[in-house]
Formats: sequence, structure tokens, C-alpha cells
Amino acid sequence: MAVIADRCPGIQVTVVDLNAERIAAWNDPDLSQLPVYEPELDAVVGRARGQNLHFTTAVEEAIAAADMVFISVNTPTKTRGLGAGQASDLRWVEASARTVAQAARGHTIVVEKSTLPVRTAEVIQTILSAATGDGNGCSFSVLSNPEFLAEGTAIPDLEAPDRVLIGGDDPAAIAALAAIYGQWVPAERILTTNLWSSELSKLTANAFLAQRISSINSIAAVCEATGADVREVAKAIGADSRIGAKFLQAGPGFGGSCFQKDILNLVYLYRHYGLEEVAAYWEQVVTLNTWQQQRIARLVVTRLFGTVSGKRIGVLGFAFKADTNDTRESPAIRICRDLLEEGAILQILDPKVEEGQITAGLVQPAGGGEGSWLPVADVHQAASGADALLLLTEWQAFAQIDWPAVAAVMRQPAWLFDTRAKADGAAARAAGLNVWTVGEGSG
Ligand code: UGA
Repeated sequence: MAVIADRCPGIQVTVVDLNAERIAAWNDPDLSQLPVYEPELDAVVGRARGQNLHFTTAVEEAIAAADMVFISVNTPTKTRGLGAGQASDLRWVEASARTVAQAARGHTIVVEKSTLPVRTAEVIQTILSAATGDGNGCSFSVLSNPEFLAEGTAIPDLEAPDRVLIGGDDPAAIAALAAIYGQWVPAERILTTNLWSSELSKLTANAFLAQRISSINSIAAVCEATGADVREVAKAIGADSRIGAKFLQAGPGFGGSCFQKDILNLVYLYRHYGLEEVAAYWEQVVTLNTWQQQRIARLVVTRLFGTVSGKRIGVLGFAFKADTNDTRESPAIRICRDLLEEGAILQILDPKVEEGQITAGLVQPAGGGEGSWLPVADVHQAASGADALLLLTEWQAFAQIDWPAVAAVMRQPAWLFDTRAKADGAAARAAGLNVWTVGEGSG
């Protein structure tokens, strides 16, 4: 929304939320205090806020004044009830649709921006059409406009998208939304489809991206076993233009709020339609991802003589990828939990993740492991007294570690486990550490 406001000075954009604290944070005069860390976002908000970008808790008022409403609420995987563990929880989408139905005036275009299961637009349409029958003169068009930005590169992704996708069946509404994007996106990159194709394309794009990561992680394990190097394999296959070089980095498994959730959504949909083989095929992408995370935790324990109980391990990075403070579904969570279960003492460092987020991720169920963890402020503290450093997020700073200084404060024999192939492994080896790098065979 900030980018739309920045690119379309003639449009008034009002972001509403019931959470007053959140809205206050978005209105904080100090732009470094915005609730989301995303490179360049502060500059975009700084330019538009107070001009044509507003943050408020006056939800009904803003809806009544709007020609177009974007529903951008979260849709986590259901934890209980029908479809638990796979289907998306649509309670906030439904609540938003009801609020729009009740507060809107005149004709309103309602845009699904949240990632939703296929045919959710139908739910929204049904709720809205109940309001249309109220005789208060309001009417609605529903569009699907999924978002393809990735965290960490959100602003450049929005400013120069590969494509914008608009699904719907009302040509006037589609044209109105296309005209907004058309202010900065070339016309040939604005694709229009029917509603269901648009919803399905979003889930499919994420499923294909996640599948590439599970594929390369599966090859990483083979490389480690055979003496091949996954980066050499990725380069060789990525040179084929039909495969392409992007999204072939082996790592600790994908995290983030979307990939697992979206695949499980598809799996639920396929099962609903009786497509068991298709469901099993895609489910395997998630299974392999979980396996990769468990395998890394096991590997750390094995290399440290089969036990990490009472041993200090420095954890470098907790966010699910670099350049974000987002920890949702971060591989660090499962890997750290497994190590805590084994009794390790984790010294966790992340340049952008706050202690509260780490606590929320690592809360152990009753009767959980015996380990403990503490946040640390720099690599030196993470390494202090540790038997190993475990690099989990590819922050650029971790490429420039002073290895002789770090090795000097570790307990010997010491290890570096680099799940992102980010650190200077040769320098760490030269400083006397044992080094394990994801996908690197020992030859
Ligand atoms: C992903 C998609 O890339 C976006 O197109 C989509 O809009 C977004 O989900 C969404 O649905 O909201 P995001 O999760 O922000 O974006 O970040 P990615 O760059 O896709 O990374 C996801 C995970 O995969 C991270 O844990 C990352 O470290 C991992 N990854 C990515 C790899 O392990 N290897 C790679 O080569 C690429």
C-alpha cells in the first residue's frame, strides 16, 4: 500500500487495523521504529505518509469513504477443527468481508490481497451480496490480486514486478485496478484471468518455488554423501535456461509464512477433490523440508560426539531469511528446538530479531528438553565458550567474521556448521575449526 501511495500521488491510501498499538507504530515519527523491518520501506513510507498514505484505526469510516478495499489480513493454517494442520483459517477474511459489507457505501471494489484457498472469493461474494440485498443501495465487485513480493526485496519486487495478476469477472473493476498498477507497471506485465485461476496461480507459484528448494536440498544430501558440491551442481543445471539459476540455494529448508501453508492448502484442496496421488506428490515437498531441518540438528549432535547436553552452541541468525526480522516458520525454530531437546545451551545472535520473538519461537511444550538459550549481541559472544557455531540465516555480516579471533574464544575442538554456505569456510578452517557446509561433499 505504501508503494501504491508512493507511485500514485493522486490516490488516497488509508491502511486500517483494529490494533491501535500497531497503527501507532506505523505513525511513529521515527521511521526506524516501523513494525516491519524491510530494506527501503522507511524511505517509501517517509515520502508518502501524511501526504496520501494514512494509518488509522477508524475502520468503518475509511471503508465508507473508499472506492476500493484491499483485504490483507492473515490466513494461518488452522490448528483445530475441520482441516486442522492443512486448511487455512479464514476467520479474519470472513470478519473483514462482514465489516466491509456493513460499512461500505455506493459501489465498492473488494480486492483479495491475502493469499487464500481457491474459491474464497465465492465466500466474500456471498457475504457481500447479503448486504447488497439490504436495500441500502451499495453494490460490490470482487477481484483477486495476489501478491508475489518476497520479504527482504519487497520494495524492488513491487516497483518492478515480473507480473501483476488480477482475477475477476467484472471488466470495469479489473480496468480500475489495472489502471492503478498501470501508473508504474508496463501494460504487458499486468495479467488478467478469471477469479479461480488467479487464486490458484498464487498457490501454484509458491508450490513451484518451494519445490525447487526441496529439490536442491535433496541433492545437497546426495552431494555430501558422494563428494559432489551442490553449488557446482546448481551452477551447472542453472545454466540451462529452461531450469534457470534462481532459487537453487541449498539451505536449512524453507521458512516464512507462506510456502508450507500454501502447499498444505493445495494438499487439502486436492484431497477434497479426491486427487490423492496429487496430494501426496506435493505433500512430499513439505516432508522433505522438515527432514532437512531435522537432519541438520541430528548432524550437529553426531559431530559433537553424540551429545550436546550442557554444551554451548552459538546460533548465527534466527530470521527465516536475511534482510527481514520475520521469524514465522523459520528453520531456526525447529533446529534450535531439537538442540534444546538434546540439552544444548544456545547463544543466539540475529541483527534484527528481538528477544521476544525468539522466546515465542522456542517456548517448549511442558516436559520439553533440558537446554536453555540466551540472546547475544555479537559473534564474539555467540562463540564464547562454545563447541560450535551454527549459521542459520545468511546475513551479510556472517561472511566477514574474524575467524582467528572467534576460534580463540571457542572450546576446542570446535566446529562451524554452515547451513547457508555463507561463511568463509577456508578462513574458518585455517583458524583451526572443523567445518561442515551444506551440500559440500568431503571428497
Ligand atoms: C515467497 C515467494 O518467493 C514470494 O514470491 C511470495 O510472494 C511470498 O512467498 C508470499 O507468498 O508471501 P518469501 O517467503 O518472503 O517469499 O521469501 P523467499 O525468498 O521466497 O524465501 C522463502 C524461504 O526459502 C526462505 O527461508 C529462504 O531462505 C528459502 N530459500 C529461498 C532457500 O532455501 N533457497 C533458495 O534458493 C531460495
